Amino acid sequence: MFRNSKQNYGLTAIITHWLSAIVVIGLFAVGVWMVELTYYSPWYKNAPHLHKSIGVLLLALTVFRLIWRWSNTKPEADSSHILLEKHAAKITHSIIYLLLLTIMLSGLMISMAEGRGIMVFDWFEVPGISPFMANQADVAGSIHQLAAYGLMGLVLLHGLGALKHHFIDKDATLVKMLKFNRG
Ligand code: HEM
Ligand code: HEM
Repeated sequence: MFRNSKQNYGLTAIITHWLSAIVVIGLFAVGVWMVELTYYSPWYKNAPHLHKSIGVLLLALTVFRLIWRWSNTKPEADSSHILLEKHAAKITHSIIYLLLLTIMLSGLMISMAEGRGIMVFDWFEVPGISPFMANQADVAGSIHQLAAYGLMGLVLLHGLGALKHHFIDKDATLVKMLKFNRG
């Protein structure tokens, strides 16, 4: 039920996939909105606090997902998929993970550019690390922004690909990420 099988993703992979999809799109929207806020907005301090707190939790969730993925069976691609499709899907998933990690690590670097830790929901503090490059906030900020926009483009293709498999090819690719094996 929780683990993947050769045919389907298990409940763990399905819940973490959809939870992380919602959180990533939410963090992107909040990120774009919050950098335009002025000092007089009531959200000026709270929005970055929320963005960073949820971002740190997403990092933990993503590390868990990767460990789970490597210690689990991988569902096989639908037998109708050609080799190019199988490779394209694999490469897309790897780049998505790579961009996610780049965004979250650069986010930590922006927030720790002055050596300060990050308070996660006034719940616990991720200890700060001394900055290790000049203009760390600016460099990490540009990487963060570029990787976030790149991820959104890729995720759009990824989502459209899943919908194409479902509605045009009428194969089980999307169902695999929705219906878990009960065994
Ligand atoms: C997948 C997760 C994340 C996404 C999609 C995301 C997305 C974004 C976006 C789109 C912006 C606005 C960039 C701009 O236009 O300048 C932003 C800003 C920011 N993000 Fe994230 N972010 C994520 C995770 C994190 C994490 C984990 C942290 C830190 C713990 C973080 C810290 C920040 C900070 C401090 C800014 C403000 C940068 C500035 O003032 O220029 N983000 N984020
Ligand atoms: C921010 C949004 C999203 C992110 C970051 C994301 C990320 C990922 C990743 C990393 C995988 C590979 C899973 C693994 O093997 O570990 C995956 C698989 C999958 N995703 Fe997404 N996804 C997002 C949104 C969506 C949307 C909107 C759809 C559908 C419309 C979708 C449908 C699927 C399907 C069907 C699979 C399984 C593909 C296969 O096994 O060949 N995803 N996703």
